[in-house]
Amino acid sequence: MERTLAIIKPDAVASRLAGAILQRMEAGGFELRGMRLVHLTRAEAEGFYAVHRERPFFDSLTAFMSSGPAIVLTLEADDAIRRWRELMGATDPGKAAPGTLRREFGTSIERNATHGSDAPETAAAEIGYFFRGVELG
Ligand code: RTP
Ligand code: MG
Repeated sequence: MERTLAIIKPDAVASRLAGAILQRMEAGGFELRGMRLVHLTRAEAEGFYAVHRERPFFDSLTAFMSSGPAIVLTLEADDAIRRWRELMGATDPGKAAPGTLRREFGTSIERNATHGSDAPETAAAEIGYFFRGVELG
């Protein structure tokens, strides 16, 4: 079994899509191991996306991610990292495959509804950013 860090981003929570996305996680075979509503500060969003600090979209991204409540989750499944990114679809909803979460629920390359870790090392770091070990089943 593998774990990944997922986020239902502020755009999706504000649009009352959290329930629909949780349903898709469960239907997709992911076990929920940790789940919390968080309204990130700007500094917390900057810390989470620190790898993108030099990118032109960093200021806009961290403003968006701290604009309202988000839901952070630890998902568990076989091959969870790859399978969750597959269910999310491409970063840009306009390029994401039909049936993917970002295609259905995202509204721009930034406001793309969900986040998923991209590798085992980043999954471990991102899970640790939001959850203490004792909070996870
Ligand atoms: P994520 O980390 O959120 O799961 O998304 P990702 O791997 O598909 O994309 P990444 O390159 O890591 O970018 C992180 C988030 O930054 C926003 N973004 N904006 N304006 C732009 O060109 C742009 N590019 C990326 C998106 O919210 C993306 O998910
Ligand atoms: Mg990424």
